[in-house]
Amino acid sequence: MASNSALFPRNFRKSYPVAVRGEGCWIIDQSGRRYLDASGQAAVVNIGHGVAEIGRAMAEQSSRLAFAHTTQFHSPPAEKLAARLLALGPPNFCAGGRVYFTSGGSEATETAIKLARQFHLESGQPNRYRVVSRRQSYHGSTLGAMTVSGNVARRAPYQPLLAEWGHVAPCFCYHCPFDKKFPACAVACADDLDSFLSSNEGASVAAFIFEPVVGATLGAAVPPDGYAQRIAEICRQHGVLLIADEIMSGMGRTGQPFAVQHWYVEPDIILVGKGIAGGYAPLGAVLIARRVVEAFERGPGAFQHGFTYQAHPVVTAAGNAVLDYIESHNLSARVQPAAEFLRKELSALESHPHVGEIRGLGLLLGVEFVRNKSTREPFPRENNIAERIRQAAVDHNVFTYPTQGCVDGINGDHILLAPPFIITQAEARLITEALRSALHSVFAG
Ligand SMILES: Cc1ncc(COP(=O)(O)O)c(C=O)c1O
Repeated sequence: MASNSALFPRNFRKSYPVAVRGEGCWIIDQSGRRYLDASGQAAVVNIGHGVAEIGRAMAEQSSRLAFAHTTQFHSPPAEKLAARLLALGPPNFCAGGRVYFTSGGSEATETAIKLARQFHLESGQPNRYRVVSRRQSYHGSTLGAMTVSGNVARRAPYQPLLAEWGHVAPCFCYHCPFDKKFPACAVACADDLDSFLSSNEGASVAAFIFEPVVGATLGAAVPPDGYAQRIAEICRQHGVLLIADEIMSGMGRTGQPFAVQHWYVEPDIILVGKGIAGGYAPLGAVLIARRVVEAFERGPGAFQHGFTYQAHPVVTAAGNAVLDYIESHNLSARVQPAAEFLRKELSALESHPHVGEIRGLGLLLGVEFVRNKSTREPFPRENNIAERIRQAAVDHNVFTYPTQGCVDGINGDHILLAPPFIITQAEARLITEALRSALHSVFAG
């Protein structure tokens, strides 16, 4: 990093190239070097970089009306995008659902936590306030979102600031917390939620939040069939709202508009971010199902919450333009074949002694590295494998998204791959080749 930088960086020990341009799956830095964006940065970029018509749509909206405060006005682009999102959702969102726009994922999580609390107040259950979540999960970096997150490393420095509302077991077959195997396990991890909600604390629970496919924290861990359905059933039985955090997995990334739709689950609240505006504008959204909306309509009507920039006209115009682009280029239909091709190419790496598992759904994929393939033992954290793989892949001009801690919150190394939906076969081969070289340089020495 340039020592004269005025930016407070993510990490003072790292250096950051200065990105100046984007083209499709590529980012170009100020020296002209081109990087293949194999992770869509952080599973954000879906239509690709540098699509000029998104900028044109934003400029047009900005010159017509840049801002109107939501205490006083609604705007056409926000209305239009809300209706389009509800139409993409499960049936309980389509008629009578509503959308609350935010400036990103963490604000969406904060909004859902407060919605769940106020829903129970309006429903005559003022004792319900806890939002239970799973260990090994991530729901955002603001304090409420951190409270419900179960990502050990990201929580650690802020532990004294965080409430303890309860965490239950993750669903992670490769490192099953109960040492069981599917299907013999009968999704015992889902029953951990049932046990929590049946305990004394259960009566104070307002909602359960989960990532249908666990993104950064577990490296695209997909639940087995039956898990999401069982979770939904448990929430219904205990009178608890179900919040699906689809900030990473939503907006078509897994091959369905929302990942829960693979299992025909109807949550009460769906959170989106990232792909909703493809990186062109900071946008998040909370999709609220009919029965939650009705509780607010029946009550005093006001949601005690708000952000100055929610439902911003220019930002929601970007969301509409991205959806227009996805529709006009039929990009949703590209996810499945592109994912199949990338998986086929990556499967060549599976025989490597330190590639434990390649997993995921659609274009949300993870590669986990293990010290011992038969015991699935991770490398010690200090070996810093995920970051070294990332760096070695960057040496081959490919960007991936590394994380540690998938095994127990501390140990376990994986990288996430979440390329734009437009990835070509040649680019999928480049990703595989860069990873092959990275494995060679990290593990040969
Ligand atoms: C599943 C999930 N939830 C919430 C967030 C937070 O979103 P943001 O970084 O836009 O605040 C993220 C970001 O990585 C995420 O992956």
